[in-house]
Amino acid sequence: MLRALLLAVLLWGGPPGRRQGSYSASAAKWINSFAGPFIPVVGQFTDCLDKKSEDLVKLNVKVSQHRNRQIDSQTQLQKITGNVTVAVPIGNKGWMYMKGASRSNNQWKENAHVLKFSNGICRAMAENLPDFLRQIYKIDPDKARHSACVIPPGVYLADETPVNFTVPRLPVFQYGTWRTEIGFVLGTEAKPRNIMCFMTDIYTVPKL
Ligand SMILES: *[C@@H]1O[C@H](CO)[C@@H](O)[C@H](O)[C@H]1NC(C)=O
Ligand SMILES: *[C@@H]1O[C@H](CO)[C@@H](O)[C@H](O)[C@H]1NC(C)=O
Repeated sequence: MLRALLLAVLLWGGPPGRRQGSYSASAAKWINSFAGPFIPVVGQFTDCLDKKSEDLVKLNVKVSQHRNRQIDSQTQLQKITGNVTVAVPIGNKGWMYMKGASRSNNQWKENAHVLKFSNGICRAMAENLPDFLRQIYKIDPDKARHSACVIPPGVYLADETPVNFTVPRLPVFQYGTWRTEIGFVLGTEAKPRNIMCFMTDIYTVPKL
């Protein structure tokens, strides 16, 4: 699933602003100029506009921003300050999603990329945002991948806590700015219950 999405991502070609390569170049060369190993840098987190979420998990955090995103992100992690409130145990039901809109002709192209991590919310965190699970929820992602994974209810405090946002299962991505909605959903496809939702810009910076 992820592989297919990634391929779609690579084939689609990316924000037009970056299209300086020649289309007649070999596919590999063409891909290299727009996508590759990347560092995800995140902007501030804001609420989803449509109030679709029950907010059973709520992020009240500020994210430190790099002075020079392209350079500083190579060696410095972003730091999180604030709290995350979790109202119910978050186990291995449901799914996590990321919906990225890309900038195109001065408009956002909605749902340019949709990733769904459907292994249960806690495991989706362990597999895809392991350092967030480790640093904020104090859960060892390596253990959580193989045994019960539960984020207990509570208020999780962060104070300049460094978080590495690397997504291990997504080693390569297009470079650009993605206005992204990130959420947790319980229930079924037919009757989904959104229990967490926030928006952030994700900058995919070439890893040097
Ligand atoms: C973040 O994690 C990745 C994968 O483990 C690692 O390659 C990278 O160096 C880390 N970033 C920083 C700034 O430590
Ligand atoms: C969590 O953050 C919110 C928003 O900043 C704040 O109002 C609340 O007091 C914080 N809760 C705790 C327990 O720190």
